[in-house]
Amino acid sequence: MYTELAVVALAIGGMTVAKAAPMTKADFGKTKEGTPVQIFTLTNASGMEAKIMTYGGIVVSLKAPDRKGAMADIALGFDSLKAYEEDNSPYFGALIGRYGNRIGHARFSLDDKEYTLEKNNGENTLHGGSHGFNTKVWTPRQLPDGGLELTYVSPDGEEGFPGKLTLVAVYRLTDANELKMDYTATTDKPTVVNPTNHSYFNLKGAGNGDILGHVVTIYATRFTPVDAGLIPTGELRPVKGTPFDFTKPTAVGARIGQADEQLKFGTGYDHNWVLDSGGGKLALAAKVEEPTTGRVLEVLTTEPGIQFYTGNFLDGTLKGKGGKVYAQRNGLALETQHFPDSPNKPSFPSTTLRPGQKFQSQTVYRFSTEPAGKK
Ligand code: GLA
Repeated sequence: MYTELAVVALAIGGMTVAKAAPMTKADFGKTKEGTPVQIFTLTNASGMEAKIMTYGGIVVSLKAPDRKGAMADIALGFDSLKAYEEDNSPYFGALIGRYGNRIGHARFSLDDKEYTLEKNNGENTLHGGSHGFNTKVWTPRQLPDGGLELTYVSPDGEEGFPGKLTLVAVYRLTDANELKMDYTATTDKPTVVNPTNHSYFNLKGAGNGDILGHVVTIYATRFTPVDAGLIPTGELRPVKGTPFDFTKPTAVGARIGQADEQLKFGTGYDHNWVLDSGGGKLALAAKVEEPTTGRVLEVLTTEPGIQFYTGNFLDGTLKGKGGKVYAQRNGLALETQHFPDSPNKPSFPSTTLRPGQKFQSQTVYRFSTEPAGKK
């Protein structure tokens, strides 16, 4: 009934509904191996724009309005495919798989079988190995509802992981200023899976200085402390009374320099928070407010954890979009996920996927603005 009435009202008023422009597609060069890469531009009714390429499923740029309506690209990244393919690219904007974050000692066992992975981060495996999903060219499909579907089929044994895994990620830019990401995965043998998106944000605009003044809330009363190699110890530690307490809005820089063993291990924040939602249903995980521009980012997810990473390893050697240099802490990442090293931590929520099961998860980056003087 509601729909019919709305249609009639529109007809009588002779109004036109603001409709998002259709997705456009362009070539973005060829990989080192000669595979062509495309870049898709998604726009919404209020002028937000996301550019996503088939290499790594990478969000190359994301334009969001400030409190005066001025658009800025708030995602760190590069101008060329070649720069993304370099070894030292820090996963800007990428879809991460098969396993987001670290697996300790680059091994795990599943059903009494031991699997050996690549040590691409000290003794450990980071983000699925050095040929993770962020380095693959995904197969695109433009969905009738305006979504961009990207599929990657990872062969059995790729990077040491068992089972042929099919991962489908769909990006949608909604008229509510949300970039929505839906992941589904299936496998033909028991395996582990933990996909995420590794966008780095600077709500002042990428390349416009550091993120220390960004005000962060994380809806979590516990986090997973790590050892010196950034592998969780297995403890779920209350954040109360520590620099990891973001249950109330707090500037990133307020405590990042404190003499704290966990901050020392991470060279700042590079930890997984245990979301109070517990995962399973879409819930607010984190909120970031940038007081000078008024831009606000809320992260919602069905995942049980979030890695808050403050760009500690950016060191000013990378030249980003428009030739801007990204120095330490010039961007922050909020990677929704299952906890690092879950395959070796039976007490953590399981990341095992078996044949016949379907992995599903959703994460939303929701943008809005707030008036001056709020903080
Ligand atoms: C994740 C890790 C960090 C770092 C970045 C990429 O956030 O937890 O330690 O490796 O990815 O540089």
